[in-house]
Amino acid sequence: MTHLNIEKEAMSAQSPNGMIIHRPPFIIHHFTSLSSTNDQLKAMADAPEFTCVVADEQTAGRGRRARTWYSAPGDGLYLSILFLPRNDSSSRLPLTGLLAAVAVAETLIERGVAGVDIKWPNDALAGGRKISGVLAEAVSVGPESLRLVLGVGVNLNHRSFPSELSESATSLAIETGERVIVEEFRDRLLEKIAQWYELWRRGASASIIDRWSRLSTYARGKHVVVMIEDEKLTGVTDGLTETGALRLVTDNGAVRTILAGEVTKLRTGADLSLRHSSA
Ligand code: BTN
Repeated sequence: MTHLNIEKEAMSAQSPNGMIIHRPPFIIHHFTSLSSTNDQLKAMADAPEFTCVVADEQTAGRGRRARTWYSAPGDGLYLSILFLPRNDSSSRLPLTGLLAAVAVAETLIERGVAGVDIKWPNDALAGGRKISGVLAEAVSVGPESLRLVLGVGVNLNHRSFPSELSESATSLAIETGERVIVEEFRDRLLEKIAQWYELWRRGASASIIDRWSRLSTYARGKHVVVMIEDEKLTGVTDGLTETGALRLVTDNGAVRTILAGEVTKLRTGADLSLRHSSA
């Protein structure tokens, strides 16, 4: 019997903490349905580092900026991981989201997805459409310790999306024409996250930034709009700082360092003329 069969059989005997699967260093708690894997993991107060929560579906999956994350049953990977970073690493925390996006992009490429890109900070795209997102939430527990819940959603076997997402979202199955076994994708992604997290823990920020920059067309020379709350900036990207912030040379020549914001690619002249000629 394969580990996948064992997982399916045991699912009927789900405990309040889900079905437990060991994938060192991770301990996975698998649930058939949850409101949000991030919320479940945050509620597991005494969980050790590398505890993971995975669900086949989320009824209230959350994205960044109070958005919802479409979490159809069985089609996607909905995963949250608990890290316990040392307090003195707080300036490097944004890099954990970046390293998760790197691990997702690498796993998608390995599975044959073409045109994989990363949009700053953590969105994996395929053919310009969103295929994965990361929601990192840090909870401080006393002066000395920090609990970081890193939530990762990956669209895997979706054949279609609700109409409001159909232009902007894609999945591995749409891109490759093939379905994947969610548990196999999960385990490979976890291996990669563990490798990149170990580098992060040892302070190898430059390796993460270098890999992110090689996987992302947004790293340099991309003309973008950045929304920072109510402020709208347009400019050209100019690399990341050592803590993962985005450098932007604005259209009026100022250099800005963006710590948090929503980046959108500006349509080029070529894109615009194509649109007009087909209208
Ligand atoms: C985004 O791009 O806005 C982030 C999406 C993050 C979605 C994942 S799915 C698993 C985890 N649980 C949640 O409720 N959200 C994250």
